[in-house]
Amino acid sequence: MCKAWESFAEDARPPSRDQPAPTAGATVDIGSVAFGRTERISTGLGELDRVLGGGLVAGSMVLIAGEPGVGKSTLLLQAAAGIEESGRRVLLVCGEESLEQVAARARRLGGPLSAQLTASTDVGAIEPLVGRADVVMVDSVQTLRNADSAAEPGSVSQVRLSAAHLTRAARAEGSVVVLVGHICKDGSIAGPRALEHLVDVVITFEGDQGHVLRTVRGIKNRFGPAAEMGVFEMGSKGLSEVPDASRFFLAERPESVAGSAVGCILEGRRPVALEVQALTAPTSAPLPRRVAQGVESARLGVALAILERRAGISLSSSDVYVSIAGGLRGAEPGIDLALCLALASARCDKPLPPGLAAVGEVGLGGEVRSVAGMSSRAAELIRLGFTSILMPAGGSGEAQGGAAEPDLEQMVPVRTINQALVRLGS
Ligand code: TYD
Ligand code: MG
Repeated sequence: MCKAWESFAEDARPPSRDQPAPTAGATVDIGSVAFGRTERISTGLGELDRVLGGGLVAGSMVLIAGEPGVGKSTLLLQAAAGIEESGRRVLLVCGEESLEQVAARARRLGGPLSAQLTASTDVGAIEPLVGRADVVMVDSVQTLRNADSAAEPGSVSQVRLSAAHLTRAARAEGSVVVLVGHICKDGSIAGPRALEHLVDVVITFEGDQGHVLRTVRGIKNRFGPAAEMGVFEMGSKGLSEVPDASRFFLAERPESVAGSAVGCILEGRRPVALEVQALTAPTSAPLPRRVAQGVESARLGVALAILERRAGISLSSSDVYVSIAGGLRGAEPGIDLALCLALASARCDKPLPPGLAAVGEVGLGGEVRSVAGMSSRAAELIRLGFTSILMPAGGSGEAQGGAAEPDLEQMVPVRTINQALVRLGS
Protein backbone atom coordinates (compact mmCIF):
# COMPACT_ATOMS: atom_id res chain seq x y z
CA MET A 1 0.00 0.00 0.00
CA CYS A 2 2.71 2.44 1.01
CA LYS A 3 4.54 4.29 -1.63
CA ALA A 4 8.30 4.17 -1.31
CA TRP A 5 10.39 7.28 -1.44
CA GLU A 6 13.11 5.26 -3.17
CA SER A 7 10.98 5.46 -6.27
CA PHE A 8 12.03 9.11 -6.45
CA ALA A 9 15.46 7.90 -7.46
CA GLU A 10 14.27 5.06 -9.67
CA ASP A 11 11.70 7.24 -11.36
CA ALA A 12 9.41 4.19 -11.47
CA ARG A 13 5.84 5.43 -11.32
CA PRO A 14 3.41 3.29 -9.37
CA PRO A 15 0.72 1.69 -11.50
CA SER A 16 -1.96 4.16 -12.46
CA ARG A 17 -5.37 3.65 -10.84
CA ASP A 18 -7.07 5.31 -13.79
CA GLN A 19 -10.10 3.49 -15.16
CA PRO A 20 -9.76 2.65 -18.86
CA ALA A 21 -10.79 5.73 -20.83
CA PRO A 22 -14.43 5.47 -21.90
CA THR A 23 -15.19 5.51 -25.59
CA ALA A 24 -16.80 8.77 -26.65
CA GLY A 25 -20.58 8.56 -26.47
CA ALA A 26 -20.58 5.16 -24.73
CA THR A 27 -22.97 4.52 -21.84
CA VAL A 28 -22.93 1.96 -19.05
CA ASP A 29 -25.64 0.35 -17.02
CA ILE A 30 -25.75 1.85 -13.51
CA GLY A 31 -25.87 -1.61 -11.96
CA SER A 32 -22.69 -2.67 -13.74
CA VAL A 33 -20.51 0.07 -12.27
CA ALA A 34 -18.16 -1.48 -9.74
CA PHE A 35 -17.36 0.40 -6.57
CA GLY A 36 -15.34 -0.65 -3.59
CA ARG A 37 -15.42 0.38 0.00
CA THR A 38 -13.82 3.80 0.31
CA GLU A 39 -10.48 3.45 2.04
CA ARG A 40 -9.90 6.18 4.59
CA ILE A 41 -6.56 7.54 5.70
CA SER A 42 -6.76 8.73 9.30
CA THR A 43 -5.02 11.99 10.14
CA GLY A 44 -4.66 10.81 13.73
CA LEU A 45 -6.79 13.80 14.73
CA GLY A 46 -10.27 12.55 15.54
CA GLU A 47 -11.76 16.02 15.32
CA LEU A 48 -10.40 16.49 11.79
CA ASP A 49 -11.29 12.94 10.72
CA ARG A 50 -14.90 13.53 11.76
CA VAL A 51 -15.16 16.56 9.49
CA LEU A 52 -13.55 14.60 6.66
CA GLY A 53 -16.19 11.89 7.10
CA GLY A 54 -13.80 9.37 8.66
CA GLY A 55 -10.46 10.35 7.14
CA LEU A 56 -8.90 11.25 3.80
CA VAL A 57 -10.05 9.34 0.72
CA ALA A 58 -7.39 8.07 -1.68
CA GLY A 59 -7.32 9.93 -5.00
CA SER A 60 -9.19 12.95 -3.66
CA MET A 61 -8.57 16.67 -3.40
CA VAL A 62 -9.12 18.49 -0.12
CA LEU A 63 -9.08 22.25 0.38
CA ILE A 64 -8.46 23.73 3.83
CA ALA A 65 -9.32 27.42 3.79
CA GLY A 66 -8.71 29.93 6.55
CA GLU A 67 -7.47 33.36 7.43
CA PRO A 68 -3.74 33.95 7.67
CA GLY A 69 -2.42 33.16 11.15
CA VAL A 70 -5.35 30.99 12.24
CA GLY A 71 -3.16 27.87 12.39
CA LYS A 72 -3.54 26.11 9.02
CA SER A 73 0.14 25.20 8.73
CA THR A 74 0.11 23.89 12.30
CA LEU A 75 -2.96 21.73 11.60
CA LEU A 76 -1.32 20.43 8.43
CA LEU A 77 1.88 19.44 10.21
CA GLN A 78 0.01 17.71 13.02
CA ALA A 79 -2.13 15.84 10.48
CA ALA A 80 1.04 14.90 8.60
CA ALA A 81 2.46 13.47 11.82
CA GLY A 82 -0.70 11.39 12.35
CA ILE A 83 -0.71 10.11 8.77
CA GLU A 84 2.96 9.21 9.01
CA GLU A 85 2.27 7.24 12.16
CA SER A 86 -0.02 4.90 10.22
CA GLY A 87 2.96 4.08 7.98
CA ARG A 88 2.01 6.32 5.07
CA ARG A 89 4.20 8.73 3.15
CA VAL A 90 3.64 12.45 3.28
CA LEU A 91 5.07 15.12 0.98
CA LEU A 92 4.91 18.74 2.08
CA VAL A 93 5.12 21.44 -0.56
CA CYS A 94 6.45 24.44 1.34
CA GLY A 95 5.63 27.57 -0.58
CA GLU A 96 5.01 29.86 2.36
CA GLU A 97 7.82 29.07 4.76
CA SER A 98 11.41 27.98 4.30
CA LEU A 99 12.28 24.30 4.71
CA GLU A 100 14.20 25.24 7.88
CA GLN A 101 11.13 26.89 9.39
CA VAL A 102 8.92 23.92 8.55
CA ALA A 103 11.44 21.41 9.88
CA ALA A 104 11.95 23.40 13.09
CA ARG A 105 8.21 23.61 13.72
CA ALA A 106 7.76 19.91 13.00
CA ARG A 107 10.46 19.12 15.54
CA ARG A 108 8.83 21.34 18.13
CA LEU A 109 5.41 19.77 17.56
CA GLY A 110 6.87 16.26 17.72
CA GLY A 111 6.34 15.35 14.08
CA PRO A 112 6.22 14.65 11.24
CA LEU A 113 9.73 13.26 11.41
CA SER A 114 10.06 11.39 8.13
CA ALA A 115 7.96 13.46 5.71
CA GLN A 116 9.54 14.66 2.49
CA LEU A 117 9.72 18.40 1.90
CA THR A 118 10.01 20.37 -1.28
CA ALA A 119 10.38 24.10 -1.71
CA SER A 120 9.32 23.87 -5.35
CA THR A 121 6.16 25.76 -6.21
CA ASP A 122 6.22 24.92 -9.91
CA VAL A 123 3.19 22.69 -10.55
CA GLY A 124 5.02 21.01 -13.43
CA ALA A 125 7.70 19.89 -10.96
CA ILE A 126 5.22 18.87 -8.25
CA GLU A 127 2.96 16.75 -10.49
CA PRO A 128 5.45 13.90 -10.98
CA LEU A 129 5.96 13.74 -7.20
CA VAL A 130 2.26 13.24 -6.43
CA GLY A 131 2.32 9.50 -7.11
CA ARG A 132 5.22 8.91 -4.74
CA ALA A 133 3.36 9.95 -1.61
CA ASP A 134 0.08 8.80 -0.12
CA VAL A 135 -0.72 12.36 0.91
CA VAL A 136 0.65 15.53 -0.67
CA MET A 137 0.11 18.73 1.32
CA VAL A 138 0.48 22.07 -0.45
CA ASP A 139 0.96 25.14 1.77
CA SER A 140 -0.39 27.18 0.12
CA VAL A 141 -2.20 26.97 -3.23
CA GLN A 142 -1.66 30.70 -3.64
CA THR A 143 2.10 30.20 -4.00
CA LEU A 144 1.83 27.71 -6.90
CA ARG A 145 2.95 28.61 -10.42
CA ASN A 146 2.22 27.05 -13.80
CA ALA A 147 4.74 27.61 -16.55
CA ASP A 148 1.97 27.81 -19.15
CA SER A 149 0.32 30.81 -17.52
CA ALA A 150 1.77 34.29 -17.27
CA ALA A 151 -0.58 35.31 -14.46
CA GLU A 152 0.73 36.09 -10.96
CA PRO A 153 0.77 33.28 -8.36
CA GLY A 154 -2.39 33.62 -6.28
CA SER A 155 -4.46 34.91 -9.19
CA VAL A 156 -7.69 33.08 -9.99
CA SER A 157 -6.32 31.62 -13.20
CA GLN A 158 -3.09 30.32 -11.59
CA VAL A 159 -4.94 28.87 -8.61
CA ARG A 160 -7.53 27.14 -10.83
CA LEU A 161 -4.92 25.80 -13.22
CA SER A 162 -2.84 24.44 -10.32
CA ALA A 163 -5.86 22.74 -8.78
CA ALA A 164 -6.88 21.22 -12.11
CA HIS A 165 -3.38 19.79 -12.73
CA LEU A 166 -3.06 18.43 -9.21
CA THR A 167 -6.59 16.94 -9.29
CA ARG A 168 -5.67 15.04 -12.41
CA ALA A 169 -2.48 13.78 -10.76
CA ALA A 170 -4.31 12.82 -7.54
CA ARG A 171 -6.98 10.85 -9.44
CA ALA A 172 -4.45 9.11 -11.65
CA GLU A 173 -2.12 8.13 -8.83
CA GLY A 174 -4.63 7.48 -6.07
CA SER A 175 -2.85 9.95 -3.81
CA VAL A 176 -4.58 12.56 -1.68
CA VAL A 177 -3.74 16.18 -2.36
CA VAL A 178 -4.49 18.62 0.45
CA LEU A 179 -4.40 22.28 -0.54
CA VAL A 180 -4.19 25.11 1.96
CA GLY A 181 -5.90 28.31 0.79
CA HIS A 182 -5.83 31.71 2.45
CA ILE A 183 -8.98 33.70 2.80
CA CYS A 184 -9.27 37.19 4.22
CA LYS A 185 -12.05 38.44 6.49
CA ASP A 186 -13.61 40.45 3.67
CA GLY A 187 -13.35 37.43 1.35
CA SER A 188 -11.25 39.58 -0.99
CA ILE A 189 -8.85 36.93 -2.15
CA ALA A 190 -10.39 34.91 -4.92
CA GLY A 191 -8.39 31.72 -4.33
CA PRO A 192 -10.39 29.27 -2.24
CA ARG A 193 -13.80 30.42 -3.49
CA ALA A 194 -12.71 29.84 -7.06
CA LEU A 195 -11.65 26.30 -6.15
CA GLU A 196 -14.68 25.00 -4.32
CA HIS A 197 -16.21 23.27 -7.33
CA LEU A 198 -12.89 21.75 -8.40
CA VAL A 199 -12.14 19.84 -5.22
CA ASP A 200 -13.90 16.97 -3.42
CA VAL A 201 -13.81 18.30 0.12
CA VAL A 202 -13.78 21.88 1.40
CA ILE A 203 -13.01 22.57 5.03
CA THR A 204 -12.75 25.94 6.71
CA PHE A 205 -10.50 26.51 9.67
CA GLU A 206 -11.68 29.35 11.87
CA GLY A 207 -10.77 31.04 15.10
CA ASP A 208 -10.27 34.33 16.71
CA GLN A 209 -6.61 35.06 17.38
CA GLY A 210 -7.58 36.40 20.81
CA HIS A 211 -9.21 33.07 21.70
CA VAL A 212 -7.74 29.60 21.99
CA LEU A 213 -10.75 28.07 20.22
CA ARG A 214 -10.25 26.80 16.67
CA THR A 215 -12.98 25.08 14.68
CA VAL A 216 -12.82 23.01 11.53
CA ARG A 217 -16.05 22.89 9.57
CA GLY A 218 -17.00 20.92 6.51
CA ILE A 219 -18.45 23.07 3.74
CA LYS A 220 -18.56 20.44 1.04
CA ASN A 221 -17.81 16.73 1.16
CA ARG A 222 -18.29 14.32 -1.72
CA PHE A 223 -17.48 11.37 0.57
CA GLY A 224 -19.44 12.06 3.71
CA PRO A 225 -21.70 14.40 5.57
CA ALA A 226 -20.87 18.06 5.11
CA ALA A 227 -21.44 20.59 7.91
CA GLU A 228 -19.63 18.57 10.57
CA MET A 229 -17.52 20.50 13.06
CA GLY A 230 -14.30 19.63 14.87
CA VAL A 231 -12.99 21.61 17.83
CA PHE A 232 -9.38 22.34 18.75
CA GLU A 233 -7.60 24.48 21.28
CA MET A 234 -4.44 26.36 20.21
CA GLY A 235 -1.72 26.22 22.82
CA SER A 236 2.03 26.39 23.15
CA LYS A 237 2.36 22.82 21.82
CA GLY A 238 0.16 23.42 18.81
CA LEU A 239 -3.43 22.28 18.46
CA SER A 240 -5.02 19.92 20.94
CA GLU A 241 -8.34 18.25 20.30
CA VAL A 242 -11.45 19.12 22.27
CA PRO A 243 -13.60 16.00 21.98
CA ASP A 244 -16.15 17.18 24.57
CA ALA A 245 -17.01 20.54 23.03
CA SER A 246 -20.03 21.13 25.29
CA ARG A 247 -18.02 20.90 28.49
CA PHE A 248 -15.38 23.16 26.94
CA PHE A 249 -17.93 25.89 26.17
CA LEU A 250 -19.63 25.63 29.56
CA ALA A 251 -16.42 25.29 31.59
CA GLU A 252 -16.20 28.87 32.83
CA ARG A 253 -19.90 29.57 33.15
CA PRO A 254 -20.61 31.73 36.18
CA GLU A 255 -23.15 30.45 38.73
CA SER A 256 -26.34 32.43 39.25
CA VAL A 257 -25.44 35.47 37.19
CA ALA A 258 -28.18 37.41 35.42
CA GLY A 259 -27.89 37.40 31.63
CA SER A 260 -26.58 33.86 31.24
CA ALA A 261 -28.62 31.12 29.55
CA VAL A 262 -27.59 27.70 28.27
CA GLY A 263 -28.71 26.47 24.87
CA CYS A 264 -27.69 23.70 22.52
CA ILE A 265 -26.93 23.93 18.82
CA LEU A 266 -26.48 21.20 16.26
CA GLU A 267 -23.15 21.17 14.46
CA GLY A 268 -23.55 18.61 11.72
CA ARG A 269 -24.92 15.65 13.64
CA ARG A 270 -23.31 16.66 16.91
CA PRO A 271 -25.17 18.61 19.57
CA VAL A 272 -23.02 21.26 21.26
CA ALA A 273 -24.16 23.02 24.42
CA LEU A 274 -23.20 26.63 24.81
CA GLU A 275 -23.76 29.65 27.03
CA VAL A 276 -25.46 32.76 25.65
CA GLN A 277 -24.43 35.84 27.62
CA ALA A 278 -26.29 39.14 27.57
CA LEU A 279 -25.59 42.43 29.23
CA THR A 280 -27.86 45.45 29.09
CA ALA A 281 -27.10 48.96 30.29
CA PRO A 282 -29.46 51.97 30.28
CA THR A 283 -28.51 54.69 27.83
CA SER A 284 -29.94 58.02 26.77
CA ALA A 285 -28.30 57.81 23.36
CA PRO A 286 -30.85 58.09 20.55
CA LEU A 287 -29.40 54.98 18.92
CA PRO A 288 -28.63 52.39 21.62
CA ARG A 289 -25.76 50.02 20.88
CA ARG A 290 -26.39 46.45 19.76
CA VAL A 291 -23.23 44.36 19.81
CA ALA A 292 -23.44 40.66 18.98
CA GLN A 293 -20.58 38.17 19.02
CA GLY A 294 -21.26 34.66 17.77
CA VAL A 295 -24.94 35.52 17.15
CA GLU A 296 -26.08 37.14 13.90
CA SER A 297 -27.13 40.74 14.52
CA ALA A 298 -30.38 40.16 12.59
CA ARG A 299 -31.24 37.34 15.04
CA LEU A 300 -30.54 39.64 17.98
CA GLY A 301 -32.74 42.35 16.42
CA VAL A 302 -35.63 39.93 16.02
CA ALA A 303 -35.24 38.63 19.59
CA LEU A 304 -35.35 42.19 20.94
CA ALA A 305 -38.50 42.96 18.93
CA ILE A 306 -40.21 39.76 20.10
CA LEU A 307 -39.39 40.52 23.75
CA GLU A 308 -40.76 44.04 23.40
CA ARG A 309 -43.94 43.23 21.48
CA ARG A 310 -44.83 39.77 22.82
CA ALA A 311 -43.52 39.88 26.37
CA GLY A 312 -43.55 43.55 27.26
CA ILE A 313 -39.80 43.61 27.96
CA SER A 314 -38.42 46.75 26.37
CA LEU A 315 -34.75 47.28 25.66
CA SER A 316 -35.21 50.31 23.42
CA SER A 317 -33.39 52.59 25.84
CA SER A 318 -30.61 50.14 26.72
CA ASP A 319 -27.33 49.24 25.13
CA VAL A 320 -27.34 45.49 24.47
CA TYR A 321 -24.30 43.23 24.29
CA VAL A 322 -24.66 39.55 23.46
CA SER A 323 -22.01 36.91 23.07
CA ILE A 324 -21.55 33.17 22.92
CA ALA A 325 -19.00 32.27 25.58
CA GLY A 326 -15.78 30.72 24.30
CA GLY A 327 -15.88 32.38 20.89
CA LEU A 328 -18.24 29.91 19.19
CA ARG A 329 -20.65 30.90 16.44
CA GLY A 330 -24.24 29.91 17.22
CA ALA A 331 -25.85 30.86 13.94
CA GLU A 332 -28.94 28.68 14.04
CA PRO A 333 -32.60 29.09 15.02
CA GLY A 334 -32.37 26.62 17.93
CA ILE A 335 -30.49 29.29 19.88
CA ASP A 336 -33.46 31.73 19.93
CA LEU A 337 -35.05 30.62 23.18
CA ALA A 338 -31.76 30.76 25.11
CA LEU A 339 -31.01 34.14 23.54
CA CYS A 340 -34.40 35.59 24.58
CA LEU A 341 -33.99 34.18 28.10
CA ALA A 342 -30.49 35.63 28.44
CA LEU A 343 -31.74 39.06 27.31
CA ALA A 344 -34.75 39.01 29.63
CA SER A 345 -32.62 37.78 32.53
CA ALA A 346 -30.12 40.60 31.95
CA ARG A 347 -32.87 43.21 31.64
CA CYS A 348 -34.69 42.05 34.80
CA ASP A 349 -31.39 41.41 36.61
CA LYS A 350 -32.64 37.98 37.64
CA PRO A 351 -30.52 34.87 37.12
CA LEU A 352 -32.12 31.79 35.59
CA PRO A 353 -32.41 28.80 37.93
CA PRO A 354 -29.29 26.61 37.92
CA GLY A 355 -29.85 23.43 35.94
CA LEU A 356 -32.03 25.19 33.38
CA ALA A 357 -31.32 25.08 29.65
CA ALA A 358 -33.48 26.06 26.69
CA VAL A 359 -33.77 24.90 23.09
CA GLY A 360 -36.11 26.18 20.40
CA GLU A 361 -36.76 28.70 17.69
CA VAL A 362 -38.91 31.68 18.67
CA GLY A 363 -41.34 32.79 15.96
CA LEU A 364 -42.43 36.37 15.38
CA GLY A 365 -45.71 35.62 17.15
CA GLY A 366 -43.77 34.72 20.28
CA GLU A 367 -44.43 30.99 19.75
CA VAL A 368 -41.69 28.47 20.53
CA ARG A 369 -41.00 26.20 17.56
CA SER A 370 -39.26 22.87 17.07
CA VAL A 371 -35.87 22.65 15.45
CA ALA A 372 -33.98 19.71 13.97
CA GLY A 373 -32.45 17.13 16.30
CA MET A 374 -34.44 18.00 19.42
CA SER A 375 -33.87 14.61 21.04
CA SER A 376 -30.11 14.62 20.54
CA ARG A 377 -29.89 18.16 21.91
CA ALA A 378 -31.96 17.18 24.94
CA ALA A 379 -29.86 14.06 25.50
CA GLU A 380 -26.69 16.19 25.40
CA LEU A 381 -28.05 18.66 27.97
CA ILE A 382 -29.14 15.80 30.23
CA ARG A 383 -25.67 14.25 29.92
CA LEU A 384 -24.24 17.56 31.12
CA GLY A 385 -26.47 17.45 34.19
CA PHE A 386 -29.21 19.93 33.25
CA THR A 387 -32.36 19.09 35.12
CA SER A 388 -34.89 21.33 33.48
CA ILE A 389 -34.82 21.74 29.72
CA LEU A 390 -37.28 24.15 28.14
CA MET A 391 -38.38 22.76 24.78
CA PRO A 392 -41.09 23.45 22.21
CA ALA A 393 -44.36 21.83 23.26
CA GLY A 394 -45.56 20.99 19.76
CA GLY A 395 -43.75 19.78 16.70
CA SER A 396 -42.95 16.53 15.01
CA GLY A 397 -42.65 13.13 16.65
CA GLU A 398 -38.92 13.52 16.32
CA ALA A 399 -39.10 16.46 18.68
CA GLN A 400 -40.76 14.37 21.35
CA GLY A 401 -38.74 11.20 21.19
CA GLY A 402 -36.21 9.77 18.79
CA ALA A 403 -33.15 7.64 19.17
CA ALA A 404 -31.92 9.04 22.47
CA GLU A 405 -35.40 9.13 24.09
CA PRO A 406 -34.64 11.74 26.73
CA ASP A 407 -36.05 11.37 30.21
CA LEU A 408 -39.36 13.21 30.10
CA GLU A 409 -39.01 14.34 33.68
CA GLN A 410 -36.34 16.81 32.67
CA MET A 411 -38.25 18.18 29.71
CA VAL A 412 -40.37 21.26 30.22
CA PRO A 413 -42.59 21.88 27.19
CA VAL A 414 -43.30 25.54 26.45
CA ARG A 415 -45.61 26.97 23.79
CA THR A 416 -44.77 30.64 23.97
CA ILE A 417 -41.93 32.87 25.01
CA ASN A 418 -44.07 34.04 27.94
CA GLN A 419 -44.38 30.49 29.27
CA ALA A 420 -40.58 30.29 29.19
CA LEU A 421 -40.11 33.67 30.85
CA VAL A 422 -42.13 32.50 33.87
CA ARG A 423 -38.94 30.59 34.77
CA LEU A 424 -37.31 33.88 35.58
CA GLY A 425 -39.54 33.95 38.62
CA SER A 426 -40.71 37.46 37.87
P1 TYD B 1 0.14 28.99 11.57
O1 TYD B 1 -0.10 27.53 11.57
O2 TYD B 1 1.43 29.46 11.03
O3 TYD B 1 -1.05 29.76 10.82
P2 TYD B 1 -1.41 29.85 9.26
O4 TYD B 1 -0.67 28.81 8.54
O5 TYD B 1 -2.90 29.68 9.20
O6 TYD B 1 -1.05 31.22 8.81
O7 TYD B 1 -0.03 29.45 13.09
C1 TYD B 1 -0.31 30.75 13.38
C2 TYD B 1 -0.36 31.10 14.82
O8 TYD B 1 -0.51 30.02 15.68
C3 TYD B 1 0.88 31.82 15.20
O9 TYD B 1 0.52 33.17 15.40
C4 TYD B 1 1.33 31.21 16.45
C5 TYD B 1 0.24 30.24 16.83
N1 TYD B 1 0.82 29.01 17.35
C6 TYD B 1 0.65 28.72 18.69
O10 TYD B 1 0.04 29.46 19.45
N2 TYD B 1 1.18 27.54 19.17
C7 TYD B 1 1.86 26.70 18.39
O11 TYD B 1 2.33 25.65 18.88
C8 TYD B 1 2.04 27.02 17.01
C9 TYD B 1 2.79 26.10 16.10
C10 TYD B 1 1.48 28.18 16.52
MG1 MG C 1 0.81 29.01 7.13
